[in-house]
Amino acid sequence: MANVTRKYLIAGNWKMNKTASEGAELVQEINLALGKQTDVGVAVCPPFTALENCARSLEDSNIQLGAQNMYPKSEGAYTGEVSPVMLRSLFCTFVILGHSERREYFEEDDAFINEKVLAALQSSLKPILCVGETLEQREAGQTMEVVKKQLAGGLEGVKADHADNIVIAYEPVWAIGTGKTATPEMAQEVHKMIRDELVAFYGETAAEKIRILYGGSMKPENASELMDQADIDGGLIGGASLKAKSFIELVEIARAK
Ligand code: 13P
Repeated sequence: MANVTRKYLIAGNWKMNKTASEGAELVQEINLALGKQTDVGVAVCPPFTALENCARSLEDSNIQLGAQNMYPKSEGAYTGEVSPVMLRSLFCTFVILGHSERREYFEEDDAFINEKVLAALQSSLKPILCVGETLEQREAGQTMEVVKKQLAGGLEGVKADHADNIVIAYEPVWAIGTGKTATPEMAQEVHKMIRDELVAFYGETAAEKIRILYGGSMKPENASELMDQADIDGGLIGGASLKAKSFIELVEIARAK
């Protein structure tokens, strides 16, 4: 285990994949293999339209449910949006916020993401706040600066007593869906910086409890080395979470640590 104070978390981000019935099928398979274990935290984040079916399949399971986005208001005239209250009513524990695909395609900025983080916490949802640099930024030597800014922006106003409800996901944009993974050392360097920032924000005790996941082409072939790093506490998995076999394998790798 990377650290005795933190339980690994393996979370699947299904992105815009799986209908409600396909989602239920996938979750049932995962649940059969992993629903009873408690060594490692396991979460699946289906699209909104599959949440209810998945929630039903996960009754009495230790697998937790997460959403991929939300709007930072509890209700109102916001056509097409989904509120944190609605997600809680479908038994969501987590919500992914600030994913690079939302930053890029939907122009979400740190201030808006921060509103969502605060609204999620207010509704007892645990935000998985995503941060990460583009290839251009990495090549220009701006990785640390970019990630620090996203982290501080996303967490503004979050108090230390909420800190252990937060999960951070470091997802280098150039590694997402590309098959290119950050080397364990490259990832650890950024994870360590994130941990240091969290210590500065919340103090050592709270920061030591926050899980920092790696995301970006993580799969059974590279997960073990990544999770051996001191500050890598699991993964936010895209492609490899869409098949029960690879997702289960990833959880088993974390369990064996
Ligand atoms: P891939 O695992 O498909 O690279 O996606 C990572 C990701 O974006 C998870 O949020």
